[in-house]
Amino acid sequence: MSREQLVQIARRGVGHYKAGTQDQASGILEVPVTNYFDEDRWRLEMDRVFKRLPLVVGASSELTEPGQYFSIEVAGTPLVIMRGDDGVLRSFVNMCSHRGAVVVPEGSGTSRRHTCPYHAWVYDSKGALVGVMDAGDFGEFDRDCNGLTQLPCNERAGLVWVTLSPEPVIDIDTFLCGYDDMLTHLGLAECYVVGRQVLDGPNWKVAYDGYLDYYHLPILHKESFGADMSTQAIYDAWGPHQHVTAPDRHFASLAERPEDQWETSELIGGVWTIFPHVSIASFDAEGKIYMVSQLFPGDTPDTSVTVQTFLHTEAPTPTQAAAVKERMDFLFSVVGDEDYATGKRIQQALRTGAKQVNMFGKNEGGGQRFHTFVDELLATEDADLPALFKRFA
Ligand code: FES
Ligand SMILES: [Fe+2]
Repeated sequence: MSREQLVQIARRGVGHYKAGTQDQASGILEVPVTNYFDEDRWRLEMDRVFKRLPLVVGASSELTEPGQYFSIEVAGTPLVIMRGDDGVLRSFVNMCSHRGAVVVPEGSGTSRRHTCPYHAWVYDSKGALVGVMDAGDFGEFDRDCNGLTQLPCNERAGLVWVTLSPEPVIDIDTFLCGYDDMLTHLGLAECYVVGRQVLDGPNWKVAYDGYLDYYHLPILHKESFGADMSTQAIYDAWGPHQHVTAPDRHFASLAERPEDQWETSELIGGVWTIFPHVSIASFDAEGKIYMVSQLFPGDTPDTSVTVQTFLHTEAPTPTQAAAVKERMDFLFSVVGDEDYATGKRIQQALRTGAKQVNMFGKNEGGGQRFHTFVDELLATEDADLPALFKRFA
């Protein structure tokens, strides 16, 4: 079923390639510039986008063994995700039941016990409270009710999704709209996490606009990716989740062969975005690596934090590891010095009041769909959220 969808995407790509065309939206979309910095709107986005939708926190392949864990801060919430002795992956607010200290330091590792650094209360790999220092002096209380606070956690397509609210208002499958079937073709579950780096950026939507935008590639990135990149884009959507590719020379070799000779590995290029905050792109590094960019809002409307996680399709040799490092440095520079440096200046300029709107052209349909969906989401009450996703699916 999803292989057929990959073929359909490629078929459209071949058609656009031969005709020299691209996808076109019906008109130009104007987005108020205040959407990028207004405090009230930003708080609503935190509550209605980031606090109630599943968010990608990491890769399954880092958490295959009992006791493996990692901790990360997401939109102001400290999280710890761990594989229990029973093999079940769970996520928790990384906050001690005693007086709120962060229990597991940021990072990853393997441990079946986690000791709070404040007064040494101990939690096991299922989040249960299993040790209270000087328990007799402390006094009696119900330990069973005082484990770490659990949050909804799901694995799909080699990625781990966590919802920041303990009571989810949408289930993972309604949220994904079948997109996980497509992502499974990337083989992320079988990949090796080979590096991670963090970048500061502008408002999360200014940053995210860039991941859906091929129009800027040969201009802003002429010195890095090159001036011969295509400006054209083809978008495919599964609800708010979008795949972007360019009708470029990649399609030339497909155009010469019948569809049943197209290898699946030839059909999974382009950028795979996951609403509201992830982009997955592939690069060469003595073999193939994926860069999974997880974009999180910062502490203010004007800031964001991006975690770039790199996955290699093979356990890297020293030569491959050196190539990965070189690629990571290159991509840190491309995103930091080109995309986000530009985005930070945009953020300042938007606040001047000189313009009322940003424009998304007919050739920027991906950005149009993204902003339209965010607006819909902000206007949708919890009870109506599944219906919204089904309507867009
Ligand atoms: S806050 Fe964790 S043991 Fe006191
Ligand atoms: Fe860019």
